[in-house]
Amino acid sequence: MDVLDVLEIESEVSLPARYSELSEKEMISRVLEIKEKFGKRLFMPGHHYQKDEVIRFADARGDSLKLAQICATQDDAEFIIFCGVHFMAETADMLTQPNQKVILSDLRAGCSMADMADIDQTLKGWDVMQDTFGDTILPLTYVNSTAAIKGFVGKHGGATVTSSNAAKMIEWAFTQKERILFLPDQHLGRNTAYDLGIPLEQMAVWAPLENKFEYEGNFEDVKVILWKGHCSVHEKFNVKHIENLRKNDPDINIIVHPECTFDVVRASDYDGSTNYIINTIAKAPAGSKWAIGTEMNLVNRLKDENPDKEISSLNPFMCPCLTMNRIDLPHLLWSMEKLEQGEVVNHITVPAEVTKNAVLALNRMLERS
Ligand code: 13P
Ligand code: SF4
Repeated sequence: MDVLDVLEIESEVSLPARYSELSEKEMISRVLEIKEKFGKRLFMPGHHYQKDEVIRFADARGDSLKLAQICATQDDAEFIIFCGVHFMAETADMLTQPNQKVILSDLRAGCSMADMADIDQTLKGWDVMQDTFGDTILPLTYVNSTAAIKGFVGKHGGATVTSSNAAKMIEWAFTQKERILFLPDQHLGRNTAYDLGIPLEQMAVWAPLENKFEYEGNFEDVKVILWKGHCSVHEKFNVKHIENLRKNDPDINIIVHPECTFDVVRASDYDGSTNYIINTIAKAPAGSKWAIGTEMNLVNRLKDENPDKEISSLNPFMCPCLTMNRIDLPHLLWSMEKLEQGEVVNHITVPAEVTKNAVLALNRMLERS
C-alpha cells in the first residue's frame, strides 16, 4: 500500500456522509456563516488553480509566490485553511508563527511533481554530484517540492524559486557557485536557463530513479543539472496542439506556463508564470484569440472573466489538476465545521529542524522577490 492509498482511506473515513447530502446552497451558507464567526482569526488563501466552488471564498487569491508572501504577513490569523496543495500548506506553516495552525481540507491534495523529488534520493544523488563536480553546485528548488527538499536546499546555501522569479533566482545562484542543481521540474529549469543564454549542451539531466546523469557531453561544460521531474498537468500540451490551432486560425496567440516542455515553450508566442498569463490575457485587446497552456480551472475562469476575448485550452481534451481539485466544497466545509467545534483536522506541521533550513531557502527567495 502506498502513501496515497493510506491518505485515501483516512480522508474517506473522515468525511461523513452528510456532506454528500447537503445542497450546494446549504454548504455555501454554512461556509459564509463560519467565516463570519471567526473573522480575522481565520484566513483562507487560494491558488488560482482551485475550483470556483472553493476559490470564491478565498481571502486572497494568488500564484505560489504571492500566497507565500501573503501568508508570511498574516499575524492576526490563528487558523489558515489553505486552498491549494500540500507543499503550499507546508510553506505557509513554515512562514507563519508556531501558534498559527495551517489546515489542508483534504490530505490527498498533493502534487505529483513534488513527489518526484524524494529526500533520500536527493541525498544519494548529491553525493554523486559532489564526487563529479566538487563543491561547485548551488541547489535551487521550485517551491513545488516537499519541505524536506527545501530544507536540504537551504542547508546548502540555496534558495527556493517560483515560476515568477526563476530567472532572477538562477542569475543570483550563478553569483554564488559555478553550477546549479534545479529541482524538481526539469522543464522550468531548462526553459528559464535557456532564456538566460545557457545552451542545452551545458545542461545535464539527473535521473533520480537510476541515480545517474543523462548527459552525453563533456562534464566540465555542465552549468545546470536538471532534476528529472515534471508536472503531469503541463506535460499534456504538445507541439501538435500548437500546429493544429495555427493551421485552423493563423491569428491565434499561444501562451503557456514554463512547466510545459521545452519544445512547447519554444513553439508558443508567449510563456510565463500563472500571474504573467493572467495579466497578459487581462491586457489583451478585445476580440483577440488565445489558446492557453495551463491548468484547466484557471483557463475556464479566464474565459469567464474575459468575455470580450476568444479563449480556449491549448489541449482540447485537457482536465484540471486532479490533486488541486481534491479541495472541494464538502471537504472545505467539513474542515471548517470541525474548527467551529474546536477540532483542528488535517493540521499541516513541518518539524522544527526541517523548518529551520527550509526557511533559509524561502527567505533567500522572498528577499529577492
Ligand atoms: P505558479 O503558481 O508558481 O505559477 O505554479 C504553478 C503550479 O503548478 C502550482 O502548482
Ligand atoms: Fe503539481 Fe502540476 Fe498540479 Fe501544480 S499543476 S499542483 S505542479 S501537478
